[in-house]
Amino acid sequence: MSLSSPFPVHRHDVLILGAGGAGLRAALEIGEAADVAVISKVFPTRSHTGAAQGGVAAAIGNVDEDSWEHHMFDTVKGGDYLGDQDAIEVLCREAPETVYELEHMGVPFSRLEDGRISQRAFGGHSAVRACHAADRTGHVILQTLYEHCLRKKVRFYQEFFVISLIKEDGRIQGLAAWDILKGGIHVFHAKAVLLATGGYGRTYKTTSNALANTGDGMAMAYEAGVPLEDMEFVQFHPTGIYKMGILITEAARGEGGILINRNGERFMERYAPSMKDIAPRDVVSRAIYTEIRNRMGIDGKDYVYLDLRHLGKKKILEKLPEIHSFVQTYLGIDAVREPVPVQPTCHYAMGGIPTDVNGRVVVDDKETLFPGLYAAGECACVSVHGANRLGCNSLLDILVFGKRAGEKIIEEIRGIGVSEPSDKTAQEVRLRVEDLLEGSGNETAVGIRERLQEMMMVRCSVFRNEKLLKEAESELKKLKLRYAAVQIMDHGRICNTDLLEALELGSLLSLAETIVAGALARTESRGSHFREDFPVRDDAGFLKHTLARKGPEGPLVSYKPVRITRYQPMERTY
Ligand code: FUM
Repeated sequence: MSLSSPFPVHRHDVLILGAGGAGLRAALEIGEAADVAVISKVFPTRSHTGAAQGGVAAAIGNVDEDSWEHHMFDTVKGGDYLGDQDAIEVLCREAPETVYELEHMGVPFSRLEDGRISQRAFGGHSAVRACHAADRTGHVILQTLYEHCLRKKVRFYQEFFVISLIKEDGRIQGLAAWDILKGGIHVFHAKAVLLATGGYGRTYKTTSNALANTGDGMAMAYEAGVPLEDMEFVQFHPTGIYKMGILITEAARGEGGILINRNGERFMERYAPSMKDIAPRDVVSRAIYTEIRNRMGIDGKDYVYLDLRHLGKKKILEKLPEIHSFVQTYLGIDAVREPVPVQPTCHYAMGGIPTDVNGRVVVDDKETLFPGLYAAGECACVSVHGANRLGCNSLLDILVFGKRAGEKIIEEIRGIGVSEPSDKTAQEVRLRVEDLLEGSGNETAVGIRERLQEMMMVRCSVFRNEKLLKEAESELKKLKLRYAAVQIMDHGRICNTDLLEALELGSLLSLAETIVAGALARTESRGSHFREDFPVRDDAGFLKHTLARKGPEGPLVSYKPVRITRYQPMERTY
């Protein structure tokens, strides 16, 4: 406890928010070079990286001939030419070394007969490139990184909910957080803060994302004045378990599974004659919805089947054991004998906090830095995924750019002292929490959240148009008014999940506004952003990144150029 502050104050050189792959990889890199602490609202090994199933992409060529250039081209094309090619080059060049580093750390990759790392096919990749540990790749990577962090004595503050960054004298100097287990505001001071808080999938009703994925880091950066980049690009993974959204890995199709409609037809042959079921996710999700709209869903309903039966029991149990077990647990279906009902599920945010290739947050088209603030992983937008991410490039992204952010932070904090910012932010945060705990509004967070999720699903998911988006915009304004009257039921301070849900809802509402604003302004179709009223990609008008900056009435949209180094935009066919 600081003598001059009413709050417990903790001082570290570096604070990392989020204990998923990006946060842990950065923490590991900083290791003993500086005093680093990781703050997480969940227990570290419950972070959403653990849900990544299919693999991590790297052109190590164990199955097919491959090169980082091929990986780069696939990624540029997969992102519909919106990705920054200098950053994509870094991603793909550093991928093989990243995978070998994991192997040396002890990640138990699946193996080929000859002992080398096994690779499998994945959507939009022109070579067999996904290095995997059966279908629990994220899980084993997360566990391994966590063990190494413990060995390096990284300090963990688990089950702390960060509410605000502390910005003073034009620099991020720390943050204010709520202690979930005991209650109370804590203040953290640091020389550098890295946001690694993951995505915002919980903005949508159907999602593969964990309950914790409410985009808090993105929302905090936005509140602090950082414009969010390319927020309209929201990925829907084609195969979520029907009605639940739980992920069924693309590896199921990489291993030979196929999608079929009510007639038993392998419909992807019509939409992507070359890649078929392992076309990129935007293409496959649109195809599924088109089948459903044409009453070709199973029994005319809003789902299709993923058929694995022809793979046989041995292959399913060896390559897809988790999937086999999930489907059994949640649907009572044996995927060896029955097809699995699936529908697209909100999976990934291509947009986020703009950064350079070293994780430094940048706030405009001139790459002006936001001092003291860094971001990596899904909450960041480097941008390597452009308008649509390829499967297995996400685990790669968190590892490559988590490490690079760690390296840069060590370099940049040399010679800087830990500052002593005032209590102003913490006092504001305390007032906000007290307001929620003692307020007398007549709205519940869950009521508003459910409406938000339903509304975003209907008006701003795979297919969009001006009418739907305008409706979304006006409904969001109403939801924000209702949010001002939120009353929480639990007035206690210990493990108050009601309080957390109310705080998280604030993030979801802000981010939904940026998604809708970007989608309305982008009158073209590119990658995951499909406008029925503007179905064609418009490079002359929109080969540019969106920036959504917080304004008095809502997001203010501007643009910045895409960095194109090697591959000029071409027609995107699969
Ligand atoms: O389908 C999957 O296994 C997901 C992988 C990813 O999102 O990269």
